[in-house]
Amino acid sequence: MRIIKERGWGLFLAGALLVCASISQAVEDPHAAVYAETNYPSAIECASCHPKVFWEWAVSNHAYSSISPMFHKFEQALNVFASGTIGTFCVRCHQQVATQMGEPREKALWERSDISREGVTCITCHRVSAEFGKVNGERHIDPAPLRAPVYGAGTGKAIEQVLTNAEKYEVSVAEGEDGTPIHSKPIKHEQISKSEFCVSCHQVAVHPGIKLEVVWEQYRNAPASKEGITCQDCHMGSVPGEPYGYDTWPIAVVNGQIVGDPSAKHSNHLFYGPGYPIAHPGIFPFNPKGLNWSIDEWLKFDYRSDWGEPDWEDLLEKGKVEAEFPEIWSTRKAREEARYVISLNLKLLEDKRQSRIEVMENSMRIDGPFFKSKLKVNEPLKFSYKITNKDKGHNLPSGSLGAQPELWFNVVLIDPDGERVWESGYVDKYGDMADIHSLEVAAGNIEYDSQLFNLQTKFLTTNVKGTDREMYLPVNFDIDQIPHIRPAGVPTSVINHPPFIRMEGRSLPPLAHRMAKYKIPKEKISKPGKYVLQSRFRSRAEPIYFMKFVGATEDMERSINEWMVDIHPNAVEFEIQ
Ligand code: HEC
Ligand code: HEC
Ligand code: HEC
Ligand code: HEC
Ligand code: HEC
Repeated sequence: MRIIKERGWGLFLAGALLVCASISQAVEDPHAAVYAETNYPSAIECASCHPKVFWEWAVSNHAYSSISPMFHKFEQALNVFASGTIGTFCVRCHQQVATQMGEPREKALWERSDISREGVTCITCHRVSAEFGKVNGERHIDPAPLRAPVYGAGTGKAIEQVLTNAEKYEVSVAEGEDGTPIHSKPIKHEQISKSEFCVSCHQVAVHPGIKLEVVWEQYRNAPASKEGITCQDCHMGSVPGEPYGYDTWPIAVVNGQIVGDPSAKHSNHLFYGPGYPIAHPGIFPFNPKGLNWSIDEWLKFDYRSDWGEPDWEDLLEKGKVEAEFPEIWSTRKAREEARYVISLNLKLLEDKRQSRIEVMENSMRIDGPFFKSKLKVNEPLKFSYKITNKDKGHNLPSGSLGAQPELWFNVVLIDPDGERVWESGYVDKYGDMADIHSLEVAAGNIEYDSQLFNLQTKFLTTNVKGTDREMYLPVNFDIDQIPHIRPAGVPTSVINHPPFIRMEGRSLPPLAHRMAKYKIPKEKISKPGKYVLQSRFRSRAEPIYFMKFVGATEDMERSINEWMVDIHPNAVEFEIQ
């Protein structure tokens, strides 16, 4: 709470200065800022009584949606391609509170209100009283101060006990009373417990034929939906990605006192999934302690260095190492405090990495290798693996986000001398697979991976010659490919034809399987002895070629590679005679 108030003042003063400094800037009504702050309560306010939920949410991709540097690079690039006609399309889902508050889409993250940094935050889900369908994120959050009711599943019955014993629990029920402010009785919102609650954001259509998110569409026809298993059951339950029930935990702890049933149903707000953040770890996970510094200040803190590590700081004091610091990080105290936040956040990200591995491992089964040829020297080696989508909720991967999330199979053959003689699913020097999008393949520096097994979805366009071609995005940046997104800068009737763009899904439908088949030429199998086949699935949030295309920084590319995970790593030994 204190942090919000102090920062609120800071922002207010900064805002006032800006207004004085530049008359061309629109003058902001200070009352509007106060209204906004009180009518869109921050997650930090909820954290005081719902700490477990808060810390799960703080590392989730929901909390990340407004901060994501990749979101901002992509959003900006797309707006440039489409001459600004995209408008608030992207931000109204990723920065919903901010958009509803009327913040302009182009406003930099560090100039926005505190709450807009929280992305899909508590009130984005718990202050929604209407039932929305497929609206591409155009939902309405009921603006109201913290003391107004929240919307939930109707389980929080013990609230009465707190509201009627305000003094005992040290809560403030009405304006002006001492104590921690508390919301009044929660209102039951039927939709929040149903899969339909997620559809307004997890089914995204950009224009006819082009869908960026298709989870809902797949789920609707999946066995899970017929069996009454909800999105929440798999994404908020006790086992990542599987509908095996929920953890239990008290819903609220008010000023140190547990309220109600200590073994109430607990829905995990981490929202397990393969996605991961690549922001500066001082800025994300959403850590109230991190808010002591602005985004600008954090970006000047070299978290990859040893700054603020006590041992290193000792050496620095003794003159055994040298370093230069920006003004804000010039004292040892500041650096150590910042390092403390970073260490805590990296620990949270490490836990998230574990849950990402779990959800992905739970989602698939890999059987094999099955050998299809004789295990003999100077004979080609043929084998396959069976890849099964164990998830009955939707495709693997769902193919959401168009052509972004990557999931591919990496297989290596090691010969009796311990040498890697063959590989599929290898990467180029940037980290991209060696398919037609690899810059290194295009330059002739590495070989095209003709046996690559990749479950990533691709956009295809039909060009003027009538042939299909893979592309990054359906936007009209290349006259030959005739891609298009929303009204273009040039008349679409002349060079554009949206229906010629489609998505080629390569993901596995629920419970379906596909064989990954390989053939290794006989020249590679020249020595008798023990061979090893190593295999692993690799899961990465973004292709590097796409990051380059939207202008991502090198640090972003580095982070996306550093945090990718290996799924079901395996090694099988066999004899060749
Ligand atoms: C209706 C809601 C909605 C809209 C509108 C929307 N997104 Fe998303 N976005 C999502 C969801 C949901 C995910 C998570 C999908 C997943 O992991 O499968 C996501 C994920 C992403 C990611 C990957 C995660 C990350 O932050 O790095 C990027 C980048 C992204 N969106 C960019 C955009 C851009 C650019 C636009 C505008 C063209 C846009 N989104 C419009 C809902 C939306
Ligand atoms: C993306 C939507 C979403 C966001 C964001 C979200 N919640 Fe929830 N919340 C849910 C759903 C869904 C449930 C489970 C409802 C049910 O039991 O059917 C839930 C349940 C709860 C519960 C009931 C107790 C429990 O442990 O399950 C509390 C308390 C709660 N949320 C608080 C919060 C707080 C605080 C935040 C922000 C830090 C937050 N929620 C963010 C969707 C959300
Ligand atoms: C001062 C303490 C306090 C604060 C602050 C607080 N809550 Fe609660 N909340 C409670 C109590 C107490 C309950 C009832 C617990 C029970 O019945 O076990 C509750 C219940 C809930 C529920 C369950 C509702 C249902 O229908 O089952 C949700 C959701 C929730 N709170 C969300 C929030 C959100 C969002 C915020 C911030 C905007 C917030 N809370 C702030 C104390 C608080
Ligand atoms: C207000 C819009 C909104 C609502 C409502 C919403 N989500 Fe999301 N969700 C998003 C966005 C945006 C992202 C991706 C943010 C990012 O990474 O930049 C996301 C991310 C996720 C992810 C993580 C995906 C990954 O790749 O790791 C999961 C899982 C998820 N949501 C599940 C759900 C479920 C289940 C519900 C319904 C209970 C739900 N969401 C409701 C907007 C929403
Ligand atoms: C039977 C369990 C199950 C159900 C039901 C389910 N999911 Fe998933 N979901 C998973 C698993 C496992 C993964 C990880 C593998 C993957 O990425 O497909 C996942 C991944 C995701 C992702 C990450 C992106 C991606 O491309 O796969 C999102 C977003 C998501 N689910 C949202 C939803 C929403 C929204 C619903 C309901 C409409 C839903 N899920 C229903 C199990 C489930």
